[in-house]
Amino acid sequence: MTKLYDVVVKSRHIEGGNVVVLELESASHHEPLPKIEAGSHIDLHLPNGLVRQYSLCQDPSQQGIFRLGILKDSESRGGSLSAFNEIESGMSLKVSEPKNLFPLSHAKHSVLIGGGIGITPLISMAYALRKTNASFELHYCGKSELSSAFVDELKNGELAGFTHFHFKDQGSNHRQFFENSLKNIDPETHVYTCGPNGFMDWVINLAKTQQLADAQIHKEYFQVETDLTGNAFEVVAQRSGKIIMVNAEETILSALAREGIEIEMSCEQGVCGTCMCDVIEGEPDHRDVYFTDEEKADNEQILVCCSRSKTPRLVLDI
Ligand code: FES
Repeated sequence: MTKLYDVVVKSRHIEGGNVVVLELESASHHEPLPKIEAGSHIDLHLPNGLVRQYSLCQDPSQQGIFRLGILKDSESRGGSLSAFNEIESGMSLKVSEPKNLFPLSHAKHSVLIGGGIGITPLISMAYALRKTNASFELHYCGKSELSSAFVDELKNGELAGFTHFHFKDQGSNHRQFFENSLKNIDPETHVYTCGPNGFMDWVINLAKTQQLADAQIHKEYFQVETDLTGNAFEVVAQRSGKIIMVNAEETILSALAREGIEIEMSCEQGVCGTCMCDVIEGEPDHRDVYFTDEEKADNEQILVCCSRSKTPRLVLDI
């Protein structure tokens, strides 16, 4: 089970017009918040009941707080709107312990490329790299300086000498910039990216054309549109001794819950890996962004919040 912490909102302010920056601290003096690793995120239990993942964006050497930057996204399914509109200073909330699916590797040089609010985990990484005197550069791509968060900190703080801004309204063309700058990249460089899916796919493809291996390209999806459509199929819950029909309009997760089998879950978007189950028989139709291509090909595990089945029957170890 994921460990939860009771926290209080120590401070809340808005940056760039549409990003709420929250600092959370432990509600208990006996249990301070744990130290974080660069690149990690927490599950935030929102006032409207949803649970969403947000990257921690502080200097990891800063202990006792969790800092988040959450974009108000009107396209969201209610998570970011609740965070933006309903969380107030002094409010009590629950969060998970930090989890890190986007850790830093040791590299000769690191290029951190953030699109919009995707800058958040990269800020934390930049602080960590700075502390160890590692070689790195931080790139912040966005529509405009005015609509972007953390600009003041990155312009004037200790990361100023390492940060490059690419704002469209200032005439910047980040595509051309990276196409040129990555051409002469050292083959041992590692690239880290976070941002909208199209932006990340573009960065990843570009890094691949420079012959960087998959292990040198690191990515974190923060919002994913998962395709949940498909035909009905049968899931055998081996340990529970139940056979359950997953309808065309249903996820495996909700079909199992309908029959009283509760699986721990969090993002419901195939991002976090919480709902992972072992596959005994059958071939999953993986729809997540959590597993690597090799893991997907192994077909040994499935994320039941979003993935489906290629075979009419899927036997799971649950
Ligand atoms: Fe996050 Fe399924 S709940 S991957």
